[in-house]
Order: sequence, then C-alpha cells, then structure tokens
Amino acid sequence: MDIETWTKMDHWFDERLVGADPALQAAVEATRAAGIPEIQVSPTQGKFLMVLAAALGARSVLEIGTLAGYSTIWLARGIAASARVLTLERNEKYAEVARSNLQRAGVSDRAQVRVGVASDSLRQLIAEGADFDLVFIDADKSGYPDYLTAALQLTHAGSVIVADNVVRDGRVLDEASSDVDVRGIRRYIQMLAAEPRLLSSALQTVGEKGYDGFAISRVQR
Ligand code: SAH
Ligand code: DHB
Ligand code: MG
Repeated sequence: MDIETWTKMDHWFDERLVGADPALQAAVEATRAAGIPEIQVSPTQGKFLMVLAAALGARSVLEIGTLAGYSTIWLARGIAASARVLTLERNEKYAEVARSNLQRAGVSDRAQVRVGVASDSLRQLIAEGADFDLVFIDADKSGYPDYLTAALQLTHAGSVIVADNVVRDGRVLDEASSDVDVRGIRRYIQMLAAEPRLLSSALQTVGEKGYDGFAISRVQR
C-alpha cells in the first residue's frame, strides 16, 4: 500500500461521505491563490472533526492554528448556530484569507479568528477565564507542550483535546531527533502519558495528506 492507494481511498470516502462542497472547494482554491501552504486537514479528517464536535454537543471550541480556516469551517459546522469556535493564528495574511473563507462558508457568525502568537492569546484567554468543550491543537509542533498546559487550564471534566500531526511519517519515533517539531510532539505524548487528569490515545492516519495521526484526550477531572 502506498500514497496512491491511500489517496484513492480518501477520494472514495470523500465522494460518499463528504460530497461536492463549493464553500470548502473555494476555501482551498483561495488558500492556493494566496500562496498559503496547503497543509490543512483532508476532507475526511475535517468531517471527522465535525462529527467529534457534534458528538460532544460542543458549545465552545478552541482551535490553535487557523491557516486559512479550512478545519475551522468543519468545526463550526459541527456545532449549533449559537455555539462558538475561536481560532488562533499568528499570520495576519492567513487570518484575512481565513475570515473570507469563513464568511463564504456562512459560519462567520459562529467562528472568530484571533490574530497573535498562540502563547500570548492563550495567556489572555486564561486571564479572561475562558472555557472550552473541545480544543484542536494544530499550530507549530514545538509549541504543543505549552498548548497542552494552556488547554488544561481552559477546559473542564468532559472536554476533549485533539492534536494533529503526531506521527509525521513515523519521524516521531526518532528519540535522537534534533527536529524541534518531532521533539515537541514526543514531549506532548510524554505529557499525556504522565497526566492523571487526561484519558488519552492516538490514532495513525493515512490518506491524501500522507502518513500522520491524531492524539485524543478526555479531561477527567
Ligand atoms: N488547522 C488548519 C491548519 C493549521 S497549519 C487546517 O487544518 O485547516 C498551522 C498554522 O499555525 C499556520 O497557519 C501557522 O501560521 C500557525 N502558527 C504556527 N505557529 C503559530 C503560533 N506560535 N501562534 C499562532 N499560530 C501559529
Ligand atoms: C504541517 C503542519 C500541519 O498542521 C499539517 O497538518 C501538515 C504539515 C507543516 O507545518 O508542515
Ligand atoms: Mg495539522
């Protein structure tokens, strides 16, 4: 099995479970046109996040790492019209494209982009006493340990924390790696393992985005 089969399989699922989606297609095209790297989640992964948000009945969702708002659209679609997604992005240009993508997708009433370095925005949110039912961590991988520490202060028993890209073609196995992303993810998983407040697992994924994976944790208390 190789990426060609994984991609075909992804498209097979897309055709059946996602379908043609003009707003999402336009969002991907706008991302490309703006010269933004196309590192958003795949359609099946995006809809997976939507199902998760819906299953939790999430009233408040925090995303760390917006890019052009592709995953944000999916998360917003999984929540009620009166619920909210807040997404954090440090790049002003990406945030602008994201806002326009959210608008086009008809979810700008429930999804807000906050521009800034995530660690600063998270500190502000903690000071504000913000609280989330679902946190999706997907910004710089070296920051994941700090984002987890913040997420634990921004959630309650029953909240779920998901982290993207915890496999990276298996490079995360390399304990001697000097790659700051790999080191950040390894430390993140170590923190999950040592944290009694979290019930955690991980799921490897293959598909049109290659070989990667998600970690998932439920806040227990
Ligand atoms: N969640 C998006 C993809 C996010 S890509 C999707 O699936 O559609 C990662 C994003 O995190 C990039 O846009 C990058 O600019 C942003 N980012 C990286 N480091 C950051 C930081 N320290 N603070 C805020 N955003 C950051
Ligand atoms: C990268 C970041 C991501 O969040 C992702 O899903 C894939 C790739 C990256 O920085 O290369
Ligand atoms: Mg990602």
